[in-house]
Amino acid sequence: MNSRKPKPPQLVEKKAIRVQVNDREYTGNVDVRKTLVDFIREDLALTGTHVGCEHGVCGACTIILNGRAVRSCLMFAVQADGLEIKTVEGLGTPEHLHPIQEAFRDHHGLQCGFCTPGFLMTALAFLSETPDPSKDQIREVLAGNLCRCTGYQGIVDAVEDAATRLKTGTR
Ligand code: FES
Ligand code: FES
Repeated sequence: MNSRKPKPPQLVEKKAIRVQVNDREYTGNVDVRKTLVDFIREDLALTGTHVGCEHGVCGACTIILNGRAVRSCLMFAVQADGLEIKTVEGLGTPEHLHPIQEAFRDHHGLQCGFCTPGFLMTALAFLSETPDPSKDQIREVLAGNLCRCTGYQGIVDAVEDAATRLKTGTR
Protein backbone atom coordinates (compact mmCIF):
# COMPACT_ATOMS: atom_id res chain seq x y z
CA MET A 1 0.00 0.00 0.00
CA ASN A 2 1.29 3.43 -0.85
CA SER A 3 1.41 5.41 2.41
CA ARG A 4 2.72 8.62 0.85
CA LYS A 5 0.28 11.45 1.29
CA PRO A 6 -0.29 13.91 -1.53
CA LYS A 7 1.57 17.17 -1.02
CA PRO A 8 -0.59 20.22 -0.25
CA PRO A 9 -0.65 22.80 -3.05
CA GLN A 10 2.05 25.45 -2.75
CA LEU A 11 0.54 28.84 -2.17
CA VAL A 12 2.40 31.78 -3.64
CA GLU A 13 1.69 34.88 -1.66
CA LYS A 14 1.98 38.07 -3.66
CA LYS A 15 2.15 41.67 -2.64
CA ALA A 16 1.70 44.87 -4.63
CA ILE A 17 4.78 47.07 -4.78
CA ARG A 18 5.67 50.37 -6.40
CA VAL A 19 9.28 51.17 -7.24
CA GLN A 20 11.10 53.80 -9.25
CA VAL A 21 13.59 52.03 -11.52
CA ASN A 22 16.05 54.07 -13.57
CA ASP A 23 13.64 57.01 -13.34
CA ARG A 24 10.62 55.00 -14.48
CA GLU A 25 7.85 53.88 -12.19
CA TYR A 26 6.89 50.25 -11.89
CA THR A 27 3.87 48.89 -10.04
CA GLY A 28 2.95 45.25 -9.87
CA ASN A 29 2.44 42.18 -7.76
CA VAL A 30 5.47 40.25 -6.67
CA ASP A 31 5.98 36.93 -4.92
CA VAL A 32 6.85 37.86 -1.34
CA ARG A 33 9.72 35.34 -1.38
CA LYS A 34 11.32 36.70 -4.54
CA THR A 35 14.71 38.31 -4.12
CA LEU A 36 15.25 41.81 -5.40
CA VAL A 37 17.78 40.64 -7.98
CA ASP A 38 15.37 38.05 -9.37
CA PHE A 39 12.64 40.67 -9.50
CA ILE A 40 14.94 43.05 -11.41
CA ARG A 41 16.06 40.38 -13.86
CA GLU A 42 12.84 38.41 -14.32
CA ASP A 43 9.98 40.84 -13.73
CA LEU A 44 11.66 43.97 -15.08
CA ALA A 45 13.82 42.18 -17.72
CA LEU A 46 16.84 44.24 -16.64
CA THR A 47 19.40 41.50 -17.00
CA GLY A 48 22.44 43.74 -16.68
CA THR A 49 22.44 43.05 -12.95
CA HIS A 50 24.14 39.69 -12.54
CA VAL A 51 23.72 36.89 -10.04
CA GLY A 52 26.88 35.24 -8.78
CA CYS A 53 27.10 33.78 -5.31
CA GLU A 54 23.59 34.65 -4.09
CA HIS A 55 25.12 35.00 -0.63
CA GLY A 56 26.24 38.61 -0.48
CA VAL A 57 29.88 37.75 -1.13
CA CYS A 58 30.75 38.51 -4.77
CA GLY A 59 29.06 41.88 -5.38
CA ALA A 60 27.88 40.97 -8.89
CA CYS A 61 24.29 41.88 -8.00
CA THR A 62 25.10 45.36 -6.65
CA ILE A 63 22.54 48.04 -7.45
CA ILE A 64 21.85 51.50 -6.04
CA LEU A 65 18.88 51.69 -3.70
CA ASN A 66 17.95 55.19 -2.57
CA GLY A 67 21.49 56.33 -3.31
CA ARG A 68 23.31 53.50 -1.55
CA ALA A 69 25.02 50.48 -3.07
CA VAL A 70 23.29 47.29 -1.93
CA ARG A 71 23.49 43.60 -2.79
CA SER A 72 20.20 42.80 -4.36
CA CYS A 73 20.55 39.06 -3.72
CA LEU A 74 20.26 39.71 0.01
CA MET A 75 16.92 41.52 -0.11
CA PHE A 76 13.40 40.58 -0.96
CA ALA A 77 11.76 42.62 -3.69
CA VAL A 78 8.96 43.63 -1.34
CA GLN A 79 11.54 45.38 0.85
CA ALA A 80 12.16 47.83 -1.99
CA ASP A 81 8.54 48.97 -2.03
CA GLY A 82 8.41 52.77 -2.29
CA LEU A 83 12.15 53.08 -2.97
CA GLU A 84 14.31 54.21 -5.88
CA ILE A 85 16.40 51.66 -7.74
CA LYS A 86 19.21 52.34 -10.17
CA THR A 87 20.68 49.51 -12.20
CA VAL A 88 23.51 49.44 -14.71
CA GLU A 89 20.94 50.08 -17.46
CA GLY A 90 20.41 53.49 -15.86
CA LEU A 91 24.02 54.57 -16.44
CA GLY A 92 24.96 55.41 -20.00
CA THR A 93 23.88 54.16 -23.40
CA PRO A 94 26.18 52.51 -25.97
CA GLU A 95 26.36 55.87 -27.78
CA HIS A 96 26.81 57.96 -24.63
CA LEU A 97 28.61 55.98 -21.97
CA HIS A 98 28.68 57.26 -18.41
CA PRO A 99 32.13 58.62 -17.42
CA ILE A 100 32.65 55.62 -15.12
CA GLN A 101 31.93 53.25 -18.00
CA GLU A 102 34.31 55.18 -20.25
CA ALA A 103 37.03 54.96 -17.63
CA PHE A 104 36.56 51.18 -17.30
CA ARG A 105 36.79 50.85 -21.08
CA ASP A 106 39.88 53.04 -21.36
CA HIS A 107 41.75 51.30 -18.52
CA HIS A 108 40.76 47.75 -19.52
CA GLY A 109 38.88 47.38 -16.25
CA LEU A 110 36.99 44.38 -17.56
CA GLN A 111 37.49 41.20 -19.49
CA CYS A 112 34.53 38.81 -19.47
CA GLY A 113 32.37 41.56 -17.95
CA PHE A 114 30.42 39.36 -15.56
CA CYS A 115 31.48 41.32 -12.49
CA THR A 116 31.43 44.70 -14.23
CA PRO A 117 27.87 45.92 -13.50
CA GLY A 118 28.50 45.34 -9.81
CA PHE A 119 31.80 47.22 -9.92
CA LEU A 120 30.23 50.10 -11.85
CA MET A 121 27.36 50.52 -9.39
CA THR A 122 29.70 50.20 -6.40
CA ALA A 123 31.95 52.87 -7.93
CA LEU A 124 29.00 55.14 -8.70
CA ALA A 125 27.74 55.15 -5.11
CA PHE A 126 31.27 55.47 -3.75
CA LEU A 127 32.28 58.41 -5.96
CA SER A 128 29.09 60.29 -5.21
CA GLU A 129 30.03 60.21 -1.52
CA THR A 130 33.80 60.37 -1.96
CA PRO A 131 34.54 62.50 -5.03
CA ASP A 132 38.27 62.78 -4.32
CA PRO A 133 39.32 59.32 -3.12
CA SER A 134 42.79 58.03 -2.35
CA LYS A 135 43.99 54.81 -3.97
CA ASP A 136 43.66 53.06 -0.62
CA GLN A 137 40.03 54.16 -0.29
CA ILE A 138 39.34 52.87 -3.79
CA ARG A 139 40.95 49.53 -3.01
CA GLU A 140 39.01 49.28 0.23
CA VAL A 141 35.60 49.93 -1.34
CA LEU A 142 36.30 47.54 -4.22
CA ALA A 143 37.42 44.78 -1.87
CA GLY A 144 33.83 43.61 -1.57
CA ASN A 145 33.51 42.94 -5.31
CA LEU A 146 35.12 39.86 -6.81
CA CYS A 147 36.61 39.64 -10.29
CA ARG A 148 38.13 36.46 -11.65
CA CYS A 149 39.66 37.98 -14.76
CA THR A 150 41.34 41.34 -14.51
CA GLY A 151 43.76 41.27 -11.59
CA TYR A 152 42.05 44.44 -10.31
CA GLN A 153 44.72 46.98 -11.31
CA GLY A 154 42.74 48.18 -14.31
CA ILE A 155 39.61 48.50 -12.18
CA VAL A 156 41.38 50.56 -9.52
CA ASP A 157 42.90 52.79 -12.22
CA ALA A 158 39.48 53.15 -13.86
CA VAL A 159 37.79 54.27 -10.65
CA GLU A 160 40.60 56.73 -9.95
CA ASP A 161 40.28 58.16 -13.45
CA ALA A 162 36.48 58.20 -13.21
CA ALA A 163 36.76 60.41 -10.13
CA THR A 164 38.75 62.92 -12.17
CA ARG A 165 36.34 62.72 -15.11
CA LEU A 166 33.33 63.30 -12.87
CA LYS A 167 34.99 66.23 -11.12
CA THR A 168 36.16 67.95 -14.28
CA GLY A 169 33.28 66.91 -16.49
CA THR A 170 35.73 65.41 -19.01
CA ARG A 171 35.09 62.23 -20.90
S1 FES B 1 25.14 37.51 -6.15
FE1 FES B 1 24.78 39.00 -4.64
S2 FES B 1 26.69 39.26 -3.67
FE2 FES B 1 27.02 37.63 -5.06
S1 FES C 1 35.91 40.74 -15.83
FE1 FES C 1 35.49 38.61 -15.69
S2 FES C 1 34.92 38.34 -13.63
FE2 FES C 1 35.55 40.39 -13.72
